Amino acid sequence: MSSMSLNHRRPEIPQQSGNYTPKPPQKPWSLTKPVEYLCREQRVMFVVIGMAIASVFFFLQPQFITTTVQLQKSSSGYQGSGIATRKQQHVGGVISPGAKLPLGLQRKSLRVVVTGGAGFVGSHLVDKLMARGDSVIVVDNFFTGRKENVMHHFGNPRFELIRHDVVEPLLLEVDQIYHLACPASPVHYKFNPVKTIISFSFFASTNVVGTLNMLGLAKRIGARFLLTSTSEVYGDPLQHPQKEEYWGNVNPIGVRSCYDEGKRTAETLTMDYHRGADVQVRIARIFNTYGPRMCIDDGRVVSNFVAQALRKEPLTVYGDGNQTRSFQYVSDLVDGLMRLMESEHVGPFNLGNPGEFTMLELAEVVKEVIDPHARIEFRENTADDPHKRKPDISKAKEMLGWEPKVSLRDGLPRMVEDFRGRIFGDRKETSESAV
Ligand SMILES: NC(=O)c1ccc[n+]([C@@H]2O[C@H](COP(=O)([O-])OP(=O)(O)OC[C@H]3O[C@@H](n4cnc5c(N)ncnc54)[C@H](O)[C@@H]3O)[C@@H](O)[C@H]2O)c1
Repeated sequence: MSSMSLNHRRPEIPQQSGNYTPKPPQKPWSLTKPVEYLCREQRVMFVVIGMAIASVFFFLQPQFITTTVQLQKSSSGYQGSGIATRKQQHVGGVISPGAKLPLGLQRKSLRVVVTGGAGFVGSHLVDKLMARGDSVIVVDNFFTGRKENVMHHFGNPRFELIRHDVVEPLLLEVDQIYHLACPASPVHYKFNPVKTIISFSFFASTNVVGTLNMLGLAKRIGARFLLTSTSEVYGDPLQHPQKEEYWGNVNPIGVRSCYDEGKRTAETLTMDYHRGADVQVRIARIFNTYGPRMCIDDGRVVSNFVAQALRKEPLTVYGDGNQTRSFQYVSDLVDGLMRLMESEHVGPFNLGNPGEFTMLELAEVVKEVIDPHARIEFRENTADDPHKRKPDISKAKEMLGWEPKVSLRDGLPRMVEDFRGRIFGDRKETSESAV
């Protein structure tokens, strides 16, 4: 067997001698062939038409070039998870406010949680996020917020409302967290001493434990976190106007300290999560804001004056009325909060209207708008009432391209209309957004 395989003869391959034809020599390269190719079937015309269309498109949509470059840059840092991808597109500026996107490159809608979203500022923020096409989850315990503020979104599949106290942990899958939950009105602790104690601990726990819970959530799911802090962190300021670099002059044991120190601690926690746990954070220091859906009778000066003037009651001015405040219309604030969230800057940023009014000047504007015959009644001032308050917003102007647009004289009538409806019940609860 083995000798057979060894002696096996291969089949004879026929010889091909004589049939070999060498390759013809290559012709020298000439321009005529490609030109002929291009000229055939009107190819040149199609190329020129294509170039013209592209030029017109980029001329009309210049943002597309920057947006695409930013998108490429951001996707080069892709981390793997769905949330990360979304976040990076976001960070890359694809959804920066005002950026126009060409058809087919629509921005991806985000999932956003707004704690305190049934409150005054929160509900206007929710309106704008919903209008932008995001999916919004409102988390609120209705301590000062109202369902009526957000019920015009009920039935929209992109909207959810959860009754929840932020002092308890919560697990949600979102891209962004706007943390507003905190009773911002001093009225309870001013008039009821028993509730004062409850409010004190409540304030502190909402600001500290609530913020801690939301930062923990942001860390777990890789979401971006925005804290709504306050101008109260400057206390009774010794610097005027207040810049973000100013560390403030706060009484740590006064009746307002629960709010002021609570917010200062919340800022500290936010920065520690940023430095220690790499959480993407943003801090806004909000100055006095007014507008529709503010709580009536919550002790804040604008809502007080408006409600009193509408009810034909005297306008109560505490102290001599020469202390100053700056008043920002709510749509300006919402615009600032969203710009900050989309920006690449941590902050803190002052968000307020630098127009400065004494309490007496404010009372005069309210009289002009509502009732020129309204009387002013002076009362003893409250403890630790800051003498001056005016934001320096140069940082927000320069880095966020933000500044308020609505003056007090333009904004006040919009609020008055809403208050009139709620006080006298002469029209339905407002669902109209101020934004
Ligand atoms: N409006 C202003 O002038 C102003 C100024 C500075 C800072 N801020 C800050 O902006 C945020 C919003 O203020 P606002 O004026 O809309 O106040 P608001 O009282 O109208 O809204 C606060 C919301 O948070 C909710 N809330 C409170 N405690 C909660 C808790 N433990 N769990 C869940 N929800 C809770 C309330 O029910 C309410 O809906 C607050 O953090 C406030 O400190 C507001």
